[in-house]
Amino acid sequence: MAQRILRFPDGFLWGTASAAHQCEGGNANNQWYRWEQQGRTLTGEKSGIAANWWNEAEKDFERAEQMENNALRLSLEWSRLEPREGHWDSAPLERYREMLTDLHRRHLKPIVTLHHFTEPLWFADRGGFANQGNIRFFVRYVTRAVQELQDLCDFWVTLNEPNVYAVLGYQTGSFPPGQRNLLLSLQVLRNMMQAHVEAFYAIRRLQPEGQIGYCLHYHPLDPASRLSLLDRSAAGFQDTLFNWAALEAAETGQFPFPLNLLLASIRRAPGARDYHGVNYYTREFVRFDPALPAEAFGRRFTRPGAIINDPGKQNFLGEIYPEGLYRVLKEVYNRTRGNKPLYIMENGFTDTIENRRPRAVLEHLAMIHRAISDSIPVRGYLHWTLVDNFEWNEGWGIRFGLIELDPETQQRTPRRSASMFGEICRANAITEEIVERYAPEAMDAIFGSNGTARHQVTV
Ligand code: BGC
Repeated sequence: MAQRILRFPDGFLWGTASAAHQCEGGNANNQWYRWEQQGRTLTGEKSGIAANWWNEAEKDFERAEQMENNALRLSLEWSRLEPREGHWDSAPLERYREMLTDLHRRHLKPIVTLHHFTEPLWFADRGGFANQGNIRFFVRYVTRAVQELQDLCDFWVTLNEPNVYAVLGYQTGSFPPGQRNLLLSLQVLRNMMQAHVEAFYAIRRLQPEGQIGYCLHYHPLDPASRLSLLDRSAAGFQDTLFNWAALEAAETGQFPFPLNLLLASIRRAPGARDYHGVNYYTREFVRFDPALPAEAFGRRFTRPGAIINDPGKQNFLGEIYPEGLYRVLKEVYNRTRGNKPLYIMENGFTDTIENRRPRAVLEHLAMIHRAISDSIPVRGYLHWTLVDNFEWNEGWGIRFGLIELDPETQQRTPRRSASMFGEICRANAITEEIVERYAPEAMDAIFGSNGTARHQVTV
């Protein structure tokens, strides 16, 4: 019988993403370590030895290889490489060289993030990215790291999610340094976008052929009622602020009105990226609320009745909304006039008991396929994440891994999604047979109830 199939383009990158502090363990010289020691994570938990990648990353790389991934995104821990200002440590560099060499051996293309939320204490204590004068330290570190590792990597992410870093660290105060100051948070966002541009040119000089970009977190914010002008205005303003301001500044050098009245333009911005990095997890609705001036008069909530990630933890990550990924890809493409390829640098689900993840992964991948069929050049998908890791303020209660980790014993147990993801990567496609075995309830969403989903083919 003919089998329906969604085939991905040749050379599509399949892999997982992670970050140094969440996986390596033993990071005791960055601002997150201090935050944990001060007991400021929500659960009081600490990263500890995390997933023990500092000693044994290769064992997990082998698991990624067995899943027939062809890429893997990780980050460098700046606080290891430059533990004191201007002082470089060669031992961690050697360790990163080992890790990247091992990835090559396993045919996993390394995608290396240079800053994923953590920075050395000395940098944080000088004001971090809140201080424009500190951008030069970041660029100096990036230059050094790329000089040392350029024979092993040609795909760089300068900064992970400046919008999340700025909002959580400086607006809601739930990440270090725990500030609540909207203006400062905007300034941090502006400085990070400038830091990206300068890092881009520093890397470009060293590696003219490299792929250099940054990624933003995209989180659709829809009005509670489309009929309400107030809801639409509150949602629209939050949406611009969180989702589009940084992208616009990166593309044009100018923040959108009225932010451009407050924030200096980004020098040399246009053209300073080789791809658009998209991180997508969920969406929320926004209702106008006069009692919330600090949140631009918008109260956010998860759609009642939505299928949500982890029912016990819905305050962290609510709705599973595959179409949101399609919407985000389309909007990034339109806003950038299709000028560069797109990579999903992160997408994942917090399903501790693994009863929603297989379907969610399939439906999100189908949305990527739909985008590609609409001629949006999406070139890769990196799932967040390979092995459960330390989820920042949420500690160990939030489980994003394709593979379950017991942080006490370091025991790994692959979830069903791991074998499913492996089959998809191997086939470079989603087949009807894979859907049938892992999430038959997703069949209609993926192939269309009468087999007419316009982006599928039949073989
Ligand atoms: C971050 C990751 C984090 C993930 C899940 C992203 O915003 O880049 O570090 O673990 O979301 O919350």
